[in-house]
This record gives sequence, structure tokens and C-alpha cells, in this order.
Amino acid sequence: MQSSFDRPINGPILGIESSCDETAAAVLDAGGRILAEIVLSQEREHAPFGGVVPEIAARAHLAHLPALVRRAMAQAGIGFADLAAVAASAGPGLIGGLIVGSQFAKGLAIARGIPYLAINHLEGHALTARLPGLVEGGAPFPYLLLLVSGGHCQCVAVEGAGAYRRLGGTIDDAAGEAFDKVAKLLGLGWPGGPALERLAASGDPARYPFPRPLLRREGCDFSFSGLKTAVAQTVAKLPMGALPVQTAADIAASFQRAVADVLADRAAHAMTAMAGQTSLLVVAGGVAANQTIRQALEQTAARAGFRLACPPVRLCTDNAVMIAWAGLERLRLGLTSEIGFAPRPRWPLESLAR
Ligand code: KG4
Ligand code: ZN
Repeated sequence: MQSSFDRPINGPILGIESSCDETAAAVLDAGGRILAEIVLSQEREHAPFGGVVPEIAARAHLAHLPALVRRAMAQAGIGFADLAAVAASAGPGLIGGLIVGSQFAKGLAIARGIPYLAINHLEGHALTARLPGLVEGGAPFPYLLLLVSGGHCQCVAVEGAGAYRRLGGTIDDAAGEAFDKVAKLLGLGWPGGPALERLAASGDPARYPFPRPLLRREGCDFSFSGLKTAVAQTVAKLPMGALPVQTAADIAASFQRAVADVLADRAAHAMTAMAGQTSLLVVAGGVAANQTIRQALEQTAARAGFRLACPPVRLCTDNAVMIAWAGLERLRLGLTSEIGFAPRPRWPLESLAR
């Protein structure tokens, strides 16, 4: 285990997130108190295409980031001269957006002569629960992380900032990707997760017995493509044309139940693997916003004698607070980045070094 707070930080930190389709900026004081947070969703730009278009995303980040940062600084009531450091998502993600955010942060770091921190976006999700006062009881190292987002689905042992051990991950789709694809099948538009959860609220989760891939299998791996195919086959067998609303709601609820069962089962295996080392399960990533999934994890954690920590929904989906916070954690350990650090579209969490 490592100690934190070992280096004094003499001012606020600016965080920038631009790895996918949210342009975000946040300012935290040296103790991790949130002074400003702004997230600008590009949902409207991408919705007509049914998913994120990388080139459109990069251009939108470029168009909006400077004004967004100025607004965040004004909200925090500070000027650039007050900053102690600047952190930006440097991967994994869409390279165009990563370049926009990283270059902006590097420019600021050079101009002000302050440290630059290239943050792994997944590390941002992984450390969010440690923001002071965010989750009851805090999140001391080590803990078990279930990261469930649009691009990632994995169980990770979090041993410290920069110290991650992968216990298992998806062998095909990520959980959020499955939500988005099934939402598309049901004609719910994009992004699908939140819309599917709303529709599922009026559906019968027991009507369609969809498969639960890898349930009760050894280890902590995930698979969702068979479940997605089962939903597609069910939809294909229904009469052509508009799906009756109740049928769509029942499919949504049955699918959501299956995902919740799978996530709970895999998390249970990971908790068994980490028993004795920790009794804390942290869930992060956009899919952690789903209430049915949170409840399923709550029950499984309680059965295993674990405490479940879920950051609030606004900090589960992509945001810049988590980037600034990961920056602070690294800064405290003296782990700043080279100004020449090149953003990485692929950047596994477990490849990070202290
Ligand atoms: O973490 P995130 O904001 O971005 C990535 O890094 O991927 O996660 C976005 C994903 C999307 O797939 C979205 O459909 C899913 O999280 N999501 C949800 C919910 N809210 C967002 N999935 C299920 N239920 C939700 N309420
Ligand atoms: Zn994310």
C-alpha cells in the first residue's frame, strides 16, 4: 500500500476530458474540493449518425474547449496564474479528441511553467470514488473496481494510483456497448443506455429468458455478444413494423435483468478472488448509472460481506472532475508527465507504472 498526501500542492488543478463525445473541464483545489465542473455533451452532433463520429467529435472538442475552460476558471474564481498543474485525458479514446485536449493542456503548462499530467481515462474512472467526502466510508487502497462503460468492461484490483491488476474483462462487447446496440434494435436512438433503462421501467423482466453468458463460470471474464444476438433474434421473429410498446419494454427489462445478473455474478467471483485483501467494491463508468445494475451489485456485495461504493451518476459518466482528481493523486506522488507524451488510442490500465 502507498501513502498519499506525501507532496504538498500549492494551488488548484485544471482537468480536461476529451476522449470521446464529452468536452469537459473541471477545477479542483489542492485538497480535491470541486471548485468548478462543466460537461458539454456532443449528443446532438452524433445522434443523426447513431453513434460517435470521430472526426465530428474532434472538431467539436476544438470548437468548444477554449470557451469551456474559460468558463470553468471563472466558475472557480481563479486565473491561469493561480493553477498549480494541468491534467488532460491522454488515452484510451478517439485520437482526434485526445490530441485537442492534450495539446491545450500542454500549451497551458508550457505558458505557465506548471506540471502537465497525461491521465489515463480509465484511471480517472478508477480513482473517482476517492474524491474527499464523495462516498460514505471513503475508498482507501486496495479495492476491487468494476469498470463498466461504453468501451470497457473489466474487474480490476486497484492497489494504488498507477498500480492496477486486471482480474478479468470482456471477451467481446463492453456492457455499455451491449446497451447501445440493443437500444438501437428497439429503435431507441443513441445513446441507448439511459433510454433503455427508462423503457425497461414499465417492462416485465421475466418475459424473455435471455441467456446469461459465462454465468457461474470460473474467473471474472464477461461476454455480451450472445445476449445481444439473442435479443436481435427475438426482435427479428416479431411481426415487421413498429414494435408494440409493451413488447419493447418487456424486451428492454429482460435484457437489462440479464446484464445485471451477469455483472453481479462476475463481480461475485472477483470479490471471492480478493477476499482477505479488501472488502470494498467500487463501481464506475457510464453503466454504473443504471439503478437495476446498482441494486444487483448492492445485493451481491452484501452477500460477500463487501461494501459497495458508487460515485454519483454525474461522476460515473465521462467528466473532467475525475481527470483533475487522478492528476492530484499523481501529483502527490510526484508522478508528472513529459511534455512530449503522445496521446494513446489504446492504453490498458494495467500497463501504467508508478
Ligand atoms: O463512461 P461513459 O460515459 O463513456 C465511456 O467511457 O464509454 O459510458 C457511456 C456508456 C454508454 O454505452 C451508455 O449507453 C452507458 O454508458 N450508459 C448506461 C446508462 N447511462 C449510460 N447504460 C445503462 N443504463 C444507464 N442508465
Ligand atoms: Zn469513460
